[in-house]
Amino acid sequence: MSNESKKTSSGSDKGVFEHIYSTPGAGWTLERPPADLKRLCETGAIVPDKALDIGCGEGFYSIYLASRGFDVLGIDLSERAIRHARQNAERAGFNIAFEAIDIANLLRLDEQFAFVLEWSVLHHVAPPERPQYVKNVADLLRHGGKYLSVCFSVEGREDDSHSTFAVSPVGTKLYYSSRDELHDLFEPHFRIIESRLTTIHGRHGQQHMALLTNSIRTQAARGG
Ligand SMILES: C[S@@+](CC[C@H](N)C(=O)[O-])C[C@H]1O[C@@H](n2cnc3c(N)ncnc32)[C@H](O)[C@@H]1O
Repeated sequence: MSNESKKTSSGSDKGVFEHIYSTPGAGWTLERPPADLKRLCETGAIVPDKALDIGCGEGFYSIYLASRGFDVLGIDLSERAIRHARQNAERAGFNIAFEAIDIANLLRLDEQFAFVLEWSVLHHVAPPERPQYVKNVADLLRHGGKYLSVCFSVEGREDDSHSTFAVSPVGTKLYYSSRDELHDLFEPHFRIIESRLTTIHGRHGQQHMALLTNSIRTQAARGG
């Protein structure tokens, strides 16, 4: 088995993502920010500060946040995605830090953030890995910091099977969530301020029913 096809400890398949990012323009990459993110920024629900974009892909949402005055670090499992993100930020004229990091190693980031964006990533994290991952997100957030998570909903299964696992046509593993499951996951560390269905759009007109959870960190998990 080559290094690229080895699974990471977070359960994601790095080789699959590196293959998808062998050229820019993955099926999920949109240059414009999602309406939900824009709304939260434009209404002042999330204000410019230090932000972490987890699973930033080709970096366009990091660029959007930087354009609104956020000091952004974008991280992704895929080194190729990070290379695209750096090029995209440079082209857009923004100085944004991007690093290739597996979320299993999140606490290597010895920093505190005021906002974590995690758009279309949690459904790639296997359920047994999620409690530790979400605790790590909480540890990286200051008290009162915001966490916006958007992931595929089990209600949106195309075949109506309500099965919680699938492999996508591009080979990524997808773990669909229910609202109750996400509440149980987030509530030990966060107060949920918004939880509802939304839509994740793809580059070629695809749409996926998703669960948006916007929450505030309630416990000082790592002394911040
Ligand atoms: C569906 S894409 C979404 C990318 C970006 N947030 C967007 O909406 O365009 C999921 C991203 O999560 C990244 N990812 C998956 N597993 C990861 C992990 N264990 N650690 C860090 N990033 C991961 C993938 O490389 C990919 O860029």
